[in-house]
Amino acid sequence: MRASGVILAAGRGERFGGPKVFAELGGIPVLLHSVRAFLAAGAVQELIVVAQPGAETKVAALIGDLNFPVRVVTGGRRRRDSSLAGVEEARCEYVLIHDAARPLATPELIRRVLLAAERHGAAVPVVPVVDTLRYVENGFLSGRPLPRTGLSAMQTPQGFRRDLILPALRETDEELPDDAEALLRRGIPVATVPGDPKNLKITYPEDLLLLARLL
Ligand code: CTP
Ligand code: MG
Repeated sequence: MRASGVILAAGRGERFGGPKVFAELGGIPVLLHSVRAFLAAGAVQELIVVAQPGAETKVAALIGDLNFPVRVVTGGRRRRDSSLAGVEEARCEYVLIHDAARPLATPELIRRVLLAAERHGAAVPVVPVVDTLRYVENGFLSGRPLPRTGLSAMQTPQGFRRDLILPALRETDEELPDDAEALLRRGIPVATVPGDPKNLKITYPEDLLLLARLL
């Protein structure tokens, strides 16, 4: 057994105004897009979908019978708790942890991340930042711009050897910006692969309109 896909769908979607993974995109729920991309990638031997407490049956029904091993587990208050629940349930040597809120991840991207994770132990997709970045304080620009050289935005899926990410997530009992952060805090290097500019995360309601046009 090579890799497990862990799809995180247990967020409250506070900025969206509700659990965005159930919102409709291109005729199907947002969550189903990631499930289908993982199946099409042919990269994982099982899927673990992490659902909000109380939403497990709804998620299982929505996924339906896929003729593929899919298990639904209960997530937690923080993203890190949901990640840990998913990775604990996973059985394969590698795990690919993905935000259900990124429904446009392609099978190619999923395979690219897994190949790099197998080679380096940990790999994440990144997209170079093109905009000038500055701090804003009380509505006014503050200080000098951040040097943009090498600065990149993180995407998912993020791929790891399970025996590296599991203890790292267990050890960190606080919220994390992403899963790679758990390894970096232990001094474990994380490789990068080119991300996909279209692999956007749904955060606010208007993001759904943009993604529908990209679809
Ligand atoms: N997530 C999760 N469990 C949590 C928090 C987040 O599984 N406790 C998942 C979300 O479902 C989403 C992904 O992690 O697919 C990225 O999180 P984010 O975009 O922040 O989604 P939400 O936490 O749902 O949104 P918000 O922060 O606006 O409440
Ligand atoms: Mg969140």
